Amino acid sequence: MKRTGGSDEAKRRAGERAAEEVEDGFVVGLGTGSTTAHAIRAIGEMVEGGLEIQGIPTSFQSRQLALEVGIPLTSLDAISSVDLAIDGADRVVDTGDGDEQVLDRSDAGDGDLIKGGGAAHMREKLVDTAADRFVVVADPSKLADRLGGPIPLEVVPDAHSAVADTVQELEGEPTLREAEHKDGPVVTDNGNLVLDCSFGPIEDPERLASRLASIPGVLEHGLFVGRTDATYIGTETGVEVREY
Ligand code: 5RP
Repeated sequence: MKRTGGSDEAKRRAGERAAEEVEDGFVVGLGTGSTTAHAIRAIGEMVEGGLEIQGIPTSFQSRQLALEVGIPLTSLDAISSVDLAIDGADRVVDTGDGDEQVLDRSDAGDGDLIKGGGAAHMREKLVDTAADRFVVVADPSKLADRLGGPIPLEVVPDAHSAVADTVQELEGEPTLREAEHKDGPVVTDNGNLVLDCSFGPIEDPERLASRLASIPGVLEHGLFVGRTDATYIGTETGVEVREY
């Protein structure tokens, strides 16, 4: 599994704390990544102890792990609602001083995210957005005053050059994501490619999100604006909670 910055202990704390939100009868969106993996394992233990839930995986990786730990699975088209989604992030806007527990997201975009480090953001956005409550699990290395850094775009393979040209017209720098243990590019679970596009610090994430979404050939981008309900931030000593 891909490892990102932040200690595994901090990730474990965040993931396990978020798993405590799961209740009997819930349909739960199972995000992707090393932090969410801790939540999935904790939910697996709860299922072993008698909890009855159904999970909706957001990737091949989260599906495999859920099967391994015994979580019964379903799919978006088989259920009428998702009660809770738990997912990680590559960047989380957090402008609080750590003492405030309830933040006004309209102030500075608190809770806005960049996702897609694991190339799963298309299914993640589908499932996370469908959920009545979307909880993000992160460690402090993910926190920032504003969004910035590469934004992953899932693109139709034939369209990657045309999309890259349009991204450059928008003053972004596109890079085709290369696979680490395969020649050539990363291929997503959906058979598409990923362009990581840097725009520097992002002044207006909502505007950029709608521009990226309108590029022909872009299936999904990794900006999650105004979607998060809470963030659990695992630290070396505990868990900080933000509600928006
Ligand atoms: C996958 C994601 C992940 O949630 C994100 O990359 C965070 O991963 P990790 O918990 O391993 O740091 O968006 O597409």
